[in-house]
Amino acid sequence: MTKKLQAIRGMNDILPSDIKVWQQVESIIKETVASYGYQEIRFPIVEDTSLFKRTIGDATDIVEKEMYTFSDKNGESLTLRPEGTAGCVRAGIEHGLLYNQKQRLWYMGPMFRHERPQKGRYRQFYQFGVENFGMENPATDAELILLGARLWQKLRISEKLELQINSLGSKECRDNYKKILIEYFSQNLDKLDSDSQRRLNTNPLRILDSKNPEMQDLIAKAPDLLEHLDDESKKHFEELTSILDQAKIKYVINPRLVRGLDYYGMTVFEWIDVTKEGAQNAVCAGGRYNSLVSQLGGQETPASGFALGLERLIELSKTNLKPKQQTILYLITTEKTVTNGMLLAEELRDKLQNYCVICDAENTSMKAKFKRADKSGADMALVFGEDEMINNEVTIKYLRDNVDQKTIKLIEITNCLV
Ligand code: HAM
Repeated sequence: MTKKLQAIRGMNDILPSDIKVWQQVESIIKETVASYGYQEIRFPIVEDTSLFKRTIGDATDIVEKEMYTFSDKNGESLTLRPEGTAGCVRAGIEHGLLYNQKQRLWYMGPMFRHERPQKGRYRQFYQFGVENFGMENPATDAELILLGARLWQKLRISEKLELQINSLGSKECRDNYKKILIEYFSQNLDKLDSDSQRRLNTNPLRILDSKNPEMQDLIAKAPDLLEHLDDESKKHFEELTSILDQAKIKYVINPRLVRGLDYYGMTVFEWIDVTKEGAQNAVCAGGRYNSLVSQLGGQETPASGFALGLERLIELSKTNLKPKQQTILYLITTEKTVTNGMLLAEELRDKLQNYCVICDAENTSMKAKFKRADKSGADMALVFGEDEMINNEVTIKYLRDNVDQKTIKLIEITNCLV
């Protein structure tokens, strides 16, 4: 028996019935980021595997377990992008967009992670991301957060999201803190699960992010990074919180927020869906990554950004949104009027640019055509039968309103409809 062809597990089709909400959310985001001066960048879905290893970090879940990696026909190791920051930075360096410049860039598109699929967690998912380069001031981190807050306001979901922030400090204080953390967890080795034992020497910060319920007590009592920040990192964080306070943005300082990617230093943040429990509740996340550009071969360039998961955002906002409906005209022709009907439809599209004109040229009964007109969501059916064609007329039937049908001259049609 031939195998039934189906989408790959965790990879979803987005059907026409859902796409209007997607388009509406996307256009609200695009409008919002444009009002902050962000410009779009597009980069490939597939990149050299080493880009992601060097960016996200060898000892992260994404690189260790979740990448879609394959050899292409030349034997090169390629990977489907699990996130956008790496490709954006690579493209920025390659095209000389970053050095000594101020850039605000946005991107949108599918990302791929081989995670265990469940509601809100997919293997192909869509991110909308923003990255800025050349700006070191904590005000830029605050601007990213204000941008997010403005977006939630437009989507009317502010009440459902909680902002969590933390500082991972400079590399020096983070390295120092890692030693303190290794010492603490080494004293409690028997309480660590095998993943955390393995991470103890490769990536001890990630232990703080463990969701294992049996380790939560141990994690809660671990030393705080915020208490080990150096003066510069402390000042950066205080300036950020001061701007947020003045802008009246509510936030929670979460000293256990470490993020699952290695490139961050200083500010990190997540917007959490408070209506959901569990690991899939982060709708938007990001932070500062000042060392990444130089780490990938560019000149030292401060940078920060965030990405939001579109599936999670749409799930949260869809009940608030009423997609704008385009007026649909359903033109019904008969066997003898098809050609003139097609030409009439073209003329209507020329004249009525905000309308959608669907021309039904099928050779079926009038009843079937009206059924289809109704199903299409059309507001009006325009009947163009033989009598109408001979008399240069069209009959308008109102499908949604209780108004009598009328036959009008074709030259009057635009006046009648707009
Ligand atoms: P991330 O936290 O890995 O960060 O992902 C950002 C967002 O993508 C998450 O908060 C979530 O909404 C969504 N997301 C992640 N994985 C999945 C999944 N399997 N299914 C559905 N949604 C998912 C980054 O990717 C960083 N590049 C963000 C960033 C940009 N930092 C600085 N600039």
